[in-house]
Amino acid sequence: MTEQQQGAVYAPDAGFAANAHVTAESYARDYAKSVQDPVAYWRREGQRLDWIRDYTEVKDTSFAPGAVSIRWFGDGTLNVAANCIDRHVATRGSQTAIIWEPDDPQAEAKHISYTELLEQVSRMANVLKANGVSKGDRVVIYLPMIPEAAYAMLACARIGAVHSVVFAGFSPDSLASRINDCGAKMLITADYAPRGGKKTPLKSNADKALLDCRDDVKCMVVKHTGDQISWVQGRDIDVKAEMAAAKPYCAYVEVGAEDPLFILYTSGSTGKPKGVVHTSGGYLVYASMTHQMTFDYHDGDIFWCTADVGWVTGHSYIVYGPLANGATTLMFEGVPTWPDAGRFWAVCEKHKVNQFYTAPTAIRSLMGLGPEWVEKYDLSSLKLLGTVGEPINPEAWNWYHTHVGKGTRPIVDTFWQTETGGHLITPLPGAIAAKPGSATKPFFGVQPEILDPSTAEVQSATEAEGVLCIKDSWPGQMRTLWGDHARFEEAYFSQYKGYYFTGDGCRRDADGYYWITGRVDDVINVSGHRMGTAEVESALVAHEKVAEAAVVGYPHEIKGQGIYAYVTLMNGVEPTEELRRELEAFVRQEIGPIARPDLIQWAPGLPKTRSGKIMRRILRKIAENDHGSLGDTSTLADPAVVDDLVANRMNRG
Ligand code: WTA
Repeated sequence: MTEQQQGAVYAPDAGFAANAHVTAESYARDYAKSVQDPVAYWRREGQRLDWIRDYTEVKDTSFAPGAVSIRWFGDGTLNVAANCIDRHVATRGSQTAIIWEPDDPQAEAKHISYTELLEQVSRMANVLKANGVSKGDRVVIYLPMIPEAAYAMLACARIGAVHSVVFAGFSPDSLASRINDCGAKMLITADYAPRGGKKTPLKSNADKALLDCRDDVKCMVVKHTGDQISWVQGRDIDVKAEMAAAKPYCAYVEVGAEDPLFILYTSGSTGKPKGVVHTSGGYLVYASMTHQMTFDYHDGDIFWCTADVGWVTGHSYIVYGPLANGATTLMFEGVPTWPDAGRFWAVCEKHKVNQFYTAPTAIRSLMGLGPEWVEKYDLSSLKLLGTVGEPINPEAWNWYHTHVGKGTRPIVDTFWQTETGGHLITPLPGAIAAKPGSATKPFFGVQPEILDPSTAEVQSATEAEGVLCIKDSWPGQMRTLWGDHARFEEAYFSQYKGYYFTGDGCRRDADGYYWITGRVDDVINVSGHRMGTAEVESALVAHEKVAEAAVVGYPHEIKGQGIYAYVTLMNGVEPTEELRRELEAFVRQEIGPIARPDLIQWAPGLPKTRSGKIMRRILRKIAENDHGSLGDTSTLADPAVVDDLVANRMNRG
């Protein structure tokens, strides 16, 4: 790429801007209103939903140390499923709500209309009720990317139960710890999860997980592939059979705006995964609004977000945002590279997708396989492209723009988090010129600040670099961590008093554009998946031959970051290739395939301060193959340890 392309600015196309929900003028005007008078602004925006009892309160939020409390539309009541389904049935009952594209390209896709969605969700809700689930109960969902995953989420919402979706790639142990943490009384799973021509045995994982859970947790099983599975009488429930026998309508319940809608576990820098809690009213307002504005969604468009419903992206932009807007949302069971590297584009052509939203890691992996896979397909239906999950490098941006976007489609690089519910910093495609690699400007109501990491001072100059914090609340913000409000305050509000701390580094350029530079805590981003280094470490040290382990990220061409583990073995244990493979398999089994270390280095010792603290800065530098600049090592207890680690480093890239 030339230097000129590196610094390129892509202004919105005039034709696109003319029809866009947000233009340069309306963005400037409405953004100013949204931060000057958030109450008036959100009072109006909240009306995009149907409320059972309309709210009179709008914003009641405080980031004050020791008293963090976030409430939006607090006295309003609604039902989320009714907003995503029932209110559309009268006007667009026969319109497709969900297009389901199966893993196997030869198998038939499904088109589920809003009318049918109402019936399926009602039946699922009736099955939940018949099996003892009621308002406020927690339900864990461990399913493939099949329509039943959306039915299950919406059925919970319909009866006021709280769902917690666990990504189907997680291990039985990870599943069990989530079921136990949220005290779920029901698990919904399937026989198998087909993906890329392979099958994950979900039911057998669920059986293993349930051995570590309370005896009264029941298990609803979707017989999806029809393969043989074991069955526990009295505990297991055949979902399809019970849905077929259930009543086709279920009345929705009234919930408070601040009643929890879902819990989603995500990795933090310390300890076990955190149960991020999102509530009903504010979350849905924000998911709906960002879906409409960021993707410039118009009635009749076909929207495809390639994420899995196991992640927040799937919650907000496969299910809740699109359905709240009466959209047609595509749900894909497969992977981008199976049966070949053209699958994404074959699906875009087949279903005439208008907006396509994916992760930079997917773009990088397809980029390496050549543009011919894209060029085989007719992508003229595409109006807009999006990315999420990690910074997009300009090379990948350019490839996406040129080969998929044919040089004309806007690209929205959306920065947000599980905790934020929806986009925080993002281009609005008809309003904000894109700069490849920058998430550009804040969404309505979002007030980013860059703080100095050592002094915590707000950087008031336009050009600045530091950590990214948010000054005031927005409706999609998480409310607490399940069962642990103290940890919530500690994790997000204690470092920079009065601010929500994102955990990300950030630079603001002379035009006021934000450039996310990556996590500044011990969270790494592997193929767009968040992974706490502490989680991988505790999995490694659970192995009987491991004495100690330290895990850091390192730059990885396709995954963004790879997992680099330094492992100290128990006395007398021989470091062999076989043991390396055994440890890799062990981490897969403990957490799941996404946590498997890419590189394991045998470390006779780890660099520690005299007080015994591991010096991760040094380990990161060695993993990055940047050992020339290790900085001050004089505080180390045993500086010779570092020489050994440098000499035997794994990443000589
Ligand atoms: C990173 C995914 C740069 C960031 C929605 C954040 C990004 C973490 C971007 C959240 C982006 C997400 N540019 N970095 N456009 N989007 N991130 O919770 O480090 O899985 O803190 O939410 O991903 O990951 P999470």
